[in-house]
Amino acid sequence: MIVTIGSTKGGVGKSTLAVQAAITRTIAGRRVWLIDADRQGTSYLTMQGRIQAGHLPLIPCDHLHDWKQLEPRLLAEASNYDDVLIDVGGYDNAAFRVALLRSDRLVIPTAPRSYDLWTLDDVQSVINVVKPKSAALDVRVMLSCADTVGSDNEAAAQALSQYPGMTYQDTPVTRRKSIAAASALGLSVLEAKPKDKKAIAEVKAFTDAIFA
Ligand SMILES: Nc1ncnc2c1ncn2[C@@H]1O[C@H](COP(=O)(O)OP(=O)(O)OP(=O)(O)O)[C@@H](O)[C@H]1O
Ligand SMILES: [Mg+2]
Repeated sequence: MIVTIGSTKGGVGKSTLAVQAAITRTIAGRRVWLIDADRQGTSYLTMQGRIQAGHLPLIPCDHLHDWKQLEPRLLAEASNYDDVLIDVGGYDNAAFRVALLRSDRLVIPTAPRSYDLWTLDDVQSVINVVKPKSAALDVRVMLSCADTVGSDNEAAAQALSQYPGMTYQDTPVTRRKSIAAASALGLSVLEAKPKDKKAIAEVKAFTDAIFA
C-alpha cells in the first residue's frame, strides 16, 4: 500500500509521523520505503542521522522532491515493498499531486486549532484536482500535535468527523517531548529510552490504522 502523509499546512507533524510510522512498520517486519517528497528533506535527513548513528534496522529512504523523479521511481520500485510512505511538503506542489495520483490513501494530520482546521478546504482543492484520475484515493484526517489537556481535541475531532469527503481516523497523536526527541535522533518512540508508554501506544495505533 502507498500512503501519503500530506497537507498544504506546514508544521503539523507530517514528517514526524512519517518517520515514526516507517520505523514502526519496519520493526513489525514489513519491507518499508520512506520517500521524502519535500524539498526541505526533513525525514530524509532524519533517516540519514539514523544511519550515521548506527541504529538498526536500516530503512530505505529517498529524497524525491522533483515530481519528474518521483513518478518514475514510484512506478518502477513501489512493488518491491510492502509499505510505501510519502512525506510531502506543506504546500501545493507537483510532487504532492503526483504522490496523490499514485497513492492508495492520503492521511492529513491536523492540529486541534482553528487555523489548521480551515486549511482542510485548501487540501480538498488539491484533492479535487487529482480526483478525476484517482477515484479510489481514500482520504483520512486525524489529529496530530494534540493537546494533553483541555477540550480542544474533542471539539476538533467533532469538526473533523463532519468534514465531507474525508474519513476521520480516531488515532490522535499528542504533542509530546518524547516524540519530538526520538524523531530528532532518527528513532521511533518504540526504540527510544526512557520509554514513554503513552507515546508508544499512540504511534502504534496511528501506524496500524494508516495501513489497515
Ligand atoms: N507529536 C509531536 N510531539 C511533539 N512535537 C511534535 C509532534 N509532531 C510534530 N512535532 C514538532 O513540531 C514541529 C513540526 O513537525 P514536523 O516537521 O514533523 O511537521 P511537518 O508538517 O512535516 O512540517 P513541514 O510542513 O515544515 O514539513 C517539529 O519541531 C516537531 O518536532
Ligand atoms: Mg515535513
